[in-house]
Amino acid sequence: MAINDNEHIALNSSPDSDDLRDLCSELKTRGFAKKFLHFQQAGSTNQIASDLARKGYPEGTLVVAEEQTAGRGRWQRPWHSPVGKALLFSLILRPEILPSQIPQITLVVGAAVAQAVHRQTGIRAGIKWPNDLFYQGKKFCGILVEGNVKNSLVLGIGVNVNQESDDFPPQLRSTATSLRMIKGEKVSRLPLLRRILDVLEEDYEEYCRSGFASARRSWLQYEAILGRKVRIAIGGQEYCGHAVGLAEDGALLLRLPQGEEIRCSAGEVNLCREDE
Ligand code: BTN
Repeated sequence: MAINDNEHIALNSSPDSDDLRDLCSELKTRGFAKKFLHFQQAGSTNQIASDLARKGYPEGTLVVAEEQTAGRGRWQRPWHSPVGKALLFSLILRPEILPSQIPQITLVVGAAVAQAVHRQTGIRAGIKWPNDLFYQGKKFCGILVEGNVKNSLVLGIGVNVNQESDDFPPQLRSTATSLRMIKGEKVSRLPLLRRILDVLEEDYEEYCRSGFASARRSWLQYEAILGRKVRIAIGGQEYCGHAVGLAEDGALLLRLPQGEEIRCSAGEVNLCREDE
């Protein structure tokens, strides 16, 4: 499939006024979404973006879907969303960084999305390290950064926008939420997507220019984990302790019950009750 600059490929049409295919009409970004593919249905936007990255598509190429049949999350988990109610998209990035710095990108993105959601909807998310966005203990956004294609990363973002409780599988209803459920009213996806791309491009460019310091400050403004007791699984081993800081390079600092402090560069965090 060949596309040109700013060409917008849409498969099937819908008469919705909040139509994501209109993205480019008021987009202020410089490079993000200059190539834009929109799918009514896709397997996984991350998979499509990854295939395009392999073919040499440029940084900023954006793949958006209304529905995914094989949406994927972190830790090989599936990511489900009903048609047309979420933002499901992936971007190709080509940062000149070391593999050891890739986890910083996940934090840059989490902080940028939290900021964009806050500015656009007034909802102040809490970030659970590294980059899950929560509101009152329930998750509404997940971010998956994959780096399996040479010289590129694929950044996948899923935001629960207009789901209602019944839209989530029963096993997720106590842990997942959407912006609509939080606000009590429908949220327009198109301006939110524009805002996310806008903030993300600015923060990503700042990161590429000047390093992690600015994104770290922004992450710290939204974090919802420091001071909390957490469990973290790292390579088959589980640690339990208090999250006490974010290192200069983005690692989570965990204080174990005996007082020893460890650095966690990757892993899945779960919040614990203090008496656990
Ligand atoms: C997580 O587990 O929290 C990350 C979820 C990431 C889901 C998004 S939806 C758009 C993109 N395409 C995918 O297949 N996954 C990401």
